[in-house]
Amino acid sequence: MHPMLNIAIRAARSAGNIIVRSIQHVEHLEVTTKGRNDFVSDVDRLAEQEIINAIHKAYPEHAIMAEESGQQGDNDTVWVIDPLDGTTNFLHGFPHYCVSIAVMVRGKIEHGVIYDPLRDELFTASRGAGAKLNDRRLRVAKRKDLAGSLLATGFPFKYPQHLPAYLATFNALFPQVSDVRRGGSAALDLAYVAAGRLDGYWEIGLQKWDLAAGVLLIEEAGGTVSDFAGGDDYFDNGNVVVGNLAVHKQMLVNITPHVTDELKK
Ligand code: IPD
Ligand code: CA
Ligand code: CA
Repeated sequence: MHPMLNIAIRAARSAGNIIVRSIQHVEHLEVTTKGRNDFVSDVDRLAEQEIINAIHKAYPEHAIMAEESGQQGDNDTVWVIDPLDGTTNFLHGFPHYCVSIAVMVRGKIEHGVIYDPLRDELFTASRGAGAKLNDRRLRVAKRKDLAGSLLATGFPFKYPQHLPAYLATFNALFPQVSDVRRGGSAALDLAYVAAGRLDGYWEIGLQKWDLAAGVLLIEEAGGTVSDFAGGDDYFDNGNVVVGNLAVHKQMLVNITPHVTDELKK
């Protein structure tokens, strides 16, 4: 295993411990609002600091891009961190969230870890070395058609201006699939697509820390990732569609006609 993946795993597990230990006193946590429907608690900050400390102990020169504390340092290697993906779930006691850590070298994702501390599920990937759930090799689902598929999505709860376009994509896809889940943790949705638990997933307005680890997991599990227009600008415009090659293609056919100019920014 690559030493950087090892550090990412150690950091994700320590952050997971902090999150799990906080569950009992979640109602006493101080919660601040960062933006519309966008919350942060001390647990997000503590978990993030724990991850950054673990990285800097091993790699003091590496740069950090973390959701709560922003950008630190300037280096070819950047650690992209979401210390708690699914904060709204966590704050409500809805047991579905994770830690997401990716390592990018000169703009390319090289390693990714998504850790679900409640189920003790560790999703890992290194470029060219495949993706795993704990010790098991991952492949995306084999389904060839939208019919019978289980998709997941995220609602644009921070971006009401995109609701009509989003609902148009939902209206186009929903009648064709078996069902659609909205789990509340984009990173876990991506990990579940890599694991073949979901056939596909789409969401508007994501950030690099929501996506980076999951994108590598899916690619290494044989899946396809694009933005809503079929391009690879998802880190810039935040709009992502993923699935195996066949499902991804059919999702795009239904999504692309509804891409507004606003969504391209
Ligand atoms: C959020 C979750 C959610 C997704 C949002 C993300 P956070 O991340 O992944 O599922 O719909 O777009 O911002 O704020 O809980 O880290
Ligand atoms: Ca997130
Ligand atoms: Ca977060």
